[in-house]
Amino acid sequence: MDAGIELTPNNVGIIGSGQMGKGIGLSCILSGFSVNLYDKDITALDKCIEKIKTSLEKFFNQGKITKEHFQKTATLCKAQYSYDFLNQMDIIIEAVPEDYLIKKSLFKEINPFLKSDTILASNTSSLSIDALAKTISFADHFVGLHFMNPAELIPLVEIIPNQTTSKTTLDKIECFIKTLGKESVYSKDKPGFIINRLLIPLINEAIFLLGEDVASPQDIDKAMKLGANFPMGPLALADMIGLDTCLSILQTLERELDSVKYKPCPLLKEYVEKRKLGIKTKCGFYHYS
Ligand SMILES: NC(=O)c1ccc[n+]([C@@H]2O[C@H](COP(=O)([O-])OP(=O)(O)OC[C@H]3O[C@@H](n4cnc5c(N)ncnc54)[C@H](O)[C@@H]3O)[C@@H](O)[C@H]2O)c1
Repeated sequence: MDAGIELTPNNVGIIGSGQMGKGIGLSCILSGFSVNLYDKDITALDKCIEKIKTSLEKFFNQGKITKEHFQKTATLCKAQYSYDFLNQMDIIIEAVPEDYLIKKSLFKEINPFLKSDTILASNTSSLSIDALAKTISFADHFVGLHFMNPAELIPLVEIIPNQTTSKTTLDKIECFIKTLGKESVYSKDKPGFIINRLLIPLINEAIFLLGEDVASPQDIDKAMKLGANFPMGPLALADMIGLDTCLSILQTLERELDSVKYKPCPLLKEYVEKRKLGIKTKCGFYHYS
């Protein structure tokens, strides 16, 4: 790593306060970073801040963090209602929906608010980091940073540089991930990177099994948990990821890799059309209260 550069960001900005924004925010707060969250949906933003506070309380009550740690973390999370905070951020992590046009127009909008040395990271699950890099004016500070769900617990992050990501940016990002207590792997900028190229076709196949009435959701998940030693079944995992996100990733894989092997199962499309998106809408392959 280069000597003399500030490797640990103090202020983390997160844009998009859904499932991933919440988990990434929580992970950063637990490691002592100040976190500023923005979402275009104010209700979602306020809900996210509440959920982060509840999670911190839970960690404290369960003895996972000390009283001192809990008291410190309570002041580290802030909701932001405009882009004005962005010029104070050392790193900004984008976690808006898995849709190239949404991410592209967001980057265009925030570009004028960023300070020149800010690192911008996208939590995209499958979209091209090179294509996204073309939408901002300092691509050398831009990188794919793929956290998994729930981000506060999963110990791995995929790093996906674009063609021009600088070594300083990568050094800073590696240091940031270490400070979060996580491990990293590098992937080339190919659709789905490592994890989703492997995981999402498996989830799709589980949905085909369900659609062909081969087995119930419970038995498909039980089979993979007890028979293949998976920590959770593929349908429960799909509900946790969000069925809309699973569908977007499959569509990217099918389009970019030009193969029918990634064709989304019609049953998945049906669920998404009916807004049965999994845990986030309380209904997917399972029901949630
Ligand atoms: N869900 C997962 O398991 C998972 C895992 C890894 C990566 N990801 C990726 O993380 C990203 C976010 O996924 P998620 O599951 O958190 O989605 P989500 O639907 O839970 O949350 C997205 C949030 O972004 C907000 N939003 C939409 N447009 C916006 C805009 N223009 N500006 C600001 N906020 C905006 C929405 O209001 C919503 O709160 C996606 O790219 C997804 O592929 C998801």
